[in-house]
Amino acid sequence: MQILARLRNLFRASSTTKKWVPDPVYPDDVFIVSYPKSGNTWVRFLIGNYVTGGKCTFKNNHLITPDIHMNPERIENLDRPRFIKSHSQYEGKYPNTVYIVRDGRDVSVSYYHYSLKMGNVDKDLSFSGFLDMFNEGSVGPFGKWSDHVNGWLDHAEEDVVITRYEDLLDDAAGELKRMLEFCGITIDEDRVDKAVEASSFERMRRLREEQQDVVQTIRQSDPEKKFLRSGEKGEWKEYVAGKQKKKFLNIHKGALKRAGYIE
Ligand code: A3P
Repeated sequence: MQILARLRNLFRASSTTKKWVPDPVYPDDVFIVSYPKSGNTWVRFLIGNYVTGGKCTFKNNHLITPDIHMNPERIENLDRPRFIKSHSQYEGKYPNTVYIVRDGRDVSVSYYHYSLKMGNVDKDLSFSGFLDMFNEGSVGPFGKWSDHVNGWLDHAEEDVVITRYEDLLDDAAGELKRMLEFCGITIDEDRVDKAVEASSFERMRRLREEQQDVVQTIRQSDPEKKFLRSGEKGEWKEYVAGKQKKKFLNIHKGALKRAGYIE
């Protein structure tokens, strides 16, 4: 009960907002959307570093690609095309979307550690207890992982480009180019390479450490638990096994299959 109450308080401000859509929306707006813990910050850095020539940090990220839930007031003054981060389910309100998918089993592991880091769940909550809530879609205001993914994959042909976290791990430059092409931005290969370098796991982790005391949300969280935690794929195998694996498949099979994570 205590855990759920705390989770309900999360994003309270944004939940009371009528909808996660800026007013006005411009036809060239690009939304960087994902279920939480799917690599959204990485994509914000990749795009942010491309457009600023490598100047994206944890101090200015909210000014370059503002978060519609956390900094909606920053959106209005952006130069166009505007890049806006969102975790919204598909509602048909965004003109152009880069949608990031990550294997839901790895998402659950990342989300568990993040929730502990932020103090959003009791510190002695087991992964198994968290996974039950994750499977129900009650760990945050964005619903069930598979509903979120299915909603966006249903519209993959219509102003939505899909990028998978795992493909970013394999070829971040190739994926960044696909995203930029989708946004109608001319590709400069050298700039792409520099943006990928400036957005590497190691560099972002170092920046996060250095800026630990500056960014409010970071300051309030447990510094011993890293936001840039493992940055890997397939870690779920150490966490989700036996009955839990079966249960996960029962609930999320369609989305796992559509996104290419299972046969
Ligand atoms: P892990 O907790 O599995 O390490 P989001 O930004 O959507 O909240 O996603 C956070 C996840 O993306 C974390 O996963 C984090 O480590 C990973 N991530 C962030 N930047 C990354 C990068 N440059 N390379 C690889 N993974 C990255």
